[in-house]
Amino acid sequence: MTHDPVRILDGIRAAAALLGVRVRDLSIKQWKSVPHDVRVCSHDAVYRAFGSWDDAKSAADTGRLPPPPNVPRDMADTNPGRKRDTTPAPPPVHTTGERLLVIPDAHAHPDHDNERFSDLARLIRQVQPETILCCGDWWDMASLCSHSSTWDTEGARVQADLDAGWDAMHELADGWRDYSPRRVFTAGNHEDPRLASLVSSSPHLDGFVFGVRDLHEGLAAFGWEVAPYKETVEVCGYACAHYLPSGVMGRAVGGVNQGRSLQTHGHVSTIVGHSHIRNEYMSTDYLGDRVQSINAGFYGHEDMVEGWNRNTHQMWWRGVALVTLQSVARGRGYGDIEWISASEIRRRF
Ligand SMILES: [Fe+2]
Repeated sequence: MTHDPVRILDGIRAAAALLGVRVRDLSIKQWKSVPHDVRVCSHDAVYRAFGSWDDAKSAADTGRLPPPPNVPRDMADTNPGRKRDTTPAPPPVHTTGERLLVIPDAHAHPDHDNERFSDLARLIRQVQPETILCCGDWWDMASLCSHSSTWDTEGARVQADLDAGWDAMHELADGWRDYSPRRVFTAGNHEDPRLASLVSSSPHLDGFVFGVRDLHEGLAAFGWEVAPYKETVEVCGYACAHYLPSGVMGRAVGGVNQGRSLQTHGHVSTIVGHSHIRNEYMSTDYLGDRVQSINAGFYGHEDMVEGWNRNTHQMWWRGVALVTLQSVARGRGYGDIEWISASEIRRRF
């Protein structure tokens, strides 16, 4: 997202060109319907830069940028002899009002139904968040679990595991049939490493069997920007990954208060999945900027209790986080979080 007026105008012209209409005839609804990477910003950014949609279109037509904002009278140096007010300015408040929907680990699994994904699609259709972040582990891929014995995985099939996740994605995609949110997918340990294991001992099968590359291409076809497993990507001012490391050993940040630990180790706003725990922590620095860490929980099936999670599943939280953003400054993203549990999604949407 950008706040640069020049780029915003380019985005308006690009949207008009894509839709085959004149800039002056472009409606805000049409503009919102084009992919985010074409229009490059939210409507909120347009209003802040140009005041109104018509003024923005007029600027796009004429190429004339709006005048710089007026200097407040009490800050103007109209009386050089007067003692100037040296009170520090308040910290910048990057109010955006945009919504970021965070979908934690969903663990689509062939043994469990995918109804929760159509519930979530209804939420998306109604709320229309500008950005959707999926924290990875969308697929469970139990058939490729290296921690399970052959006995435990007897009957599991790679194809069935993949199909469960694609079916879930088709259900979810119904949510953005009327608009085009930005979609970011941070791949989890149940995806890239498990698929990579198919060829790790038989490299000659690379390209012959379904692999990480195929998975990422499939996700891209659904409009997701994919961050491979262990890569960190900035989304709305937050550092986002399936999990973030506690140090150079690369182990996931854990502990009793994971949000606080994430800030201790990484010093920036973060959103992660992986632990399946719901946790939020916010701190404020001496300049008034806020740092927020979000552990997004779990959106898997309520009946998913297996050998590996038998003693921990009761600590997981099932639902999603809807964040109304107040700042999208790099590393200083924060917002008002509405935690919506899976049962509440079904009831309300
Ligand atoms: Fe997970």
